[in-house]
Amino acid sequence: MSKLISIKNVSVSFRDHIALHNISIDIRKGAFVSVIGPNGAGKTTLLTVINGLGRILSGTVEVFGRKARPLNINKIRKRIGYVPQQMAVDPRSPVSVKEAVSIGRFGIIGLLGKWTDSDEQKVENALDKVGISRLSEKPVGHLSGGEHQKVSIARALAQEPEIILFDEPTSNLDPKAQNDIIKLIERIYSEKKYTIIFVTHILSHIPHSCTDVVLMKKGRIVKSGNADDMLEQKILSELYDFPMQVSIVHGKKHFHAGHFHTGHSGRGDGNV
Ligand SMILES: Nc1ncnc2c1ncn2[C@@H]1O[C@H](COP(=O)(O)OP(=O)(O)OP(=O)(O)O)[C@@H](O)[C@H]1O
Ligand SMILES: [Mg+2]
Repeated sequence: MSKLISIKNVSVSFRDHIALHNISIDIRKGAFVSVIGPNGAGKTTLLTVINGLGRILSGTVEVFGRKARPLNINKIRKRIGYVPQQMAVDPRSPVSVKEAVSIGRFGIIGLLGKWTDSDEQKVENALDKVGISRLSEKPVGHLSGGEHQKVSIARALAQEPEIILFDEPTSNLDPKAQNDIIKLIERIYSEKKYTIIFVTHILSHIPHSCTDVVLMKKGRIVKSGNADDMLEQKILSELYDFPMQVSIVHGKKHFHAGHFHTGHSGRGDGNV
């Protein structure tokens, strides 16, 4: 399969703090890559490097076979959907759900471009696919966290991207809303149209269809490989500097942070 993203020896610094140390990684077309690692590991910075929002100190980033440069970065970015970590929305915002999703199309046609029936249809399709058509006239300031996350996903889909970046899409959501979002992402991936990069802290949210896992720590990629090989007790404990237990129930991996007692409760310190 062809390489869609190729990052070579990339470093990023914020003043004197190095957020990415000379990282290299190739991502092939059609992959579902989960990126995991402790807070501050550089996961979000890696996403910003891929979509050209982050300024790199050294190294090269190639996306769709083109070296990302200031001149072509906007063209590249149009082909990448970005679902950022949940942001606070002003509850007084008058922008409707449909308008918020339309921003994904305006990014493609340009603010001065002509809005056509086809753009309208793409927005309707995105709302429908994510299951929020009934909310289309509602102001975004009145949405719940889970609904708002769906708006961000619909906006990315309306763009008809080839790559979608998800940055902790389930943070701050209740368990049902988390499950809805994960199922939605799996459904989107199953259409076989997209390459997905998915940052998460919740290991149990890594879907079965995930093809690769990238482990980041202190600005470095410490390991990467197929999901099953990476999601192992020893590897995860080293990654988080914390004991991690992995158990398999009905063929599915479950993760527990902390020491796992097999006594009465049979519970670890927390499920992740
Ligand atoms: N705009 C910025 N200015 C200064 N430092 C920054 C900035 N953005 C990130 N950093 C620093 O770079 C490092 C990597 O940050 P990044 O947000 O990529 O981590 P992360 O792995 O996404 O963490 P988290 O799991 O908490 O979201 C952190 O130490 C962070 O403090
Ligand atoms: Mg982050």
